[in-house]
Amino acid sequence: MSFRIQPAAPARPNRCQLFGPGSRPAIFEKMATSAADVINLDLEDSVAPTDKDAARANIIEAISDIDWGTKTLSVRINGLDTPYWYRDVVDLLEQAGERLDQIMIPKVGCAADIYAVDALATAVETAKGRTKKINFEVIIESAAGIAHVEEIAAASPRLVAMSLGAADFAASMGMQTTGIGGTQENYYMLHAGQKHWSDPWHWAQTAIVAACRTHGVLPVDGPYGDFSDDEGFRAQALRSATLGMVGKWAIHPKQVALANEVFTPSEAAVAEAREILAAMEEAKARGEGATVYKGRLVDIASIKQAEVIVRQSEMIAGR
Ligand code: COA
Ligand code: MG
Repeated sequence: MSFRIQPAAPARPNRCQLFGPGSRPAIFEKMATSAADVINLDLEDSVAPTDKDAARANIIEAISDIDWGTKTLSVRINGLDTPYWYRDVVDLLEQAGERLDQIMIPKVGCAADIYAVDALATAVETAKGRTKKINFEVIIESAAGIAHVEEIAAASPRLVAMSLGAADFAASMGMQTTGIGGTQENYYMLHAGQKHWSDPWHWAQTAIVAACRTHGVLPVDGPYGDFSDDEGFRAQALRSATLGMVGKWAIHPKQVALANEVFTPSEAAVAEAREILAAMEEAKARGEGATVYKGRLVDIASIKQAEVIVRQSEMIAGR
């Protein structure tokens, strides 16, 4: 219970975040013409240590040279436990044009991590007279990150999105798996001799969604590593959408259409939501707070549920 009104997350589509290594500039144009809502050019773990400087230079050039259309453009910097991250922030904000929208900070463990990057970004922006304030997005991918997820979500007004990074998260938690997201062979319940697989990512996802929704940040599902498994990706994405996440990463271009499909409310879902709103309008005219729609209860809470779907659909259609 709270008298405070929950802040709205940014009203922009974030159904798919397509990643590409900064050390592979040949794919940048393909990323720009993809159907992804967000582009993440990577300086972190898809770039070898010997390629960091070259990747940074490639990205700085591409930010201005390539037409990124209406996409949200983000660069993933290196983690605060590396010697690269300060140079990433300084060079991007000193040298890259104002087309850059966001910096993605990986492996955040506490609010002070965001504070440190914020202080550096603020100093460079002021020194350079940048007019557009850079936004941040973060990856929750460690035990510390999930333990401090709420203070991280509240850490800075620059923060617009938060993703779950399954691979590093699994490693940090000591999980016995090398899979990146999705069903895990050994995570099942046994009932009457039958195996029923459960979702080991569920707890972390719901913690992220709750922290994000409390502080007006977009909750996003991270990578699904097996890009030959479309059905596995779709199942993971459907679970994430059901839990309140707004999108998912693509680590291969073929995953973009899958993410867009899942995170765009279906015509059937939107039609049903509109019917529920209409049924509640009629109930209101009769002075009733609850009514029956297709044999089930709908009440004033149903209006808010239906509005989530209609709003999401209209926002995507109007992009
Ligand atoms: N974005 C846009 N286009 C991409 C792409 C990407 N991330 N990855 C590959 N492509 C292009 C290829 O250039 C190729 O184009 P072409 O048909 O014009 O030749 C096409 O998509 C098919 O590529 P494919 O041969 O199937 O893949 P690959 O072996 O070249 O690359 C990966 C596979 C996984 C190495 C590559 O997709 C990749 O680097 N993904 C991102 C990794 C990353 O950023 N990780 C960090 C976040 S977890
Ligand atoms: Mg990671």
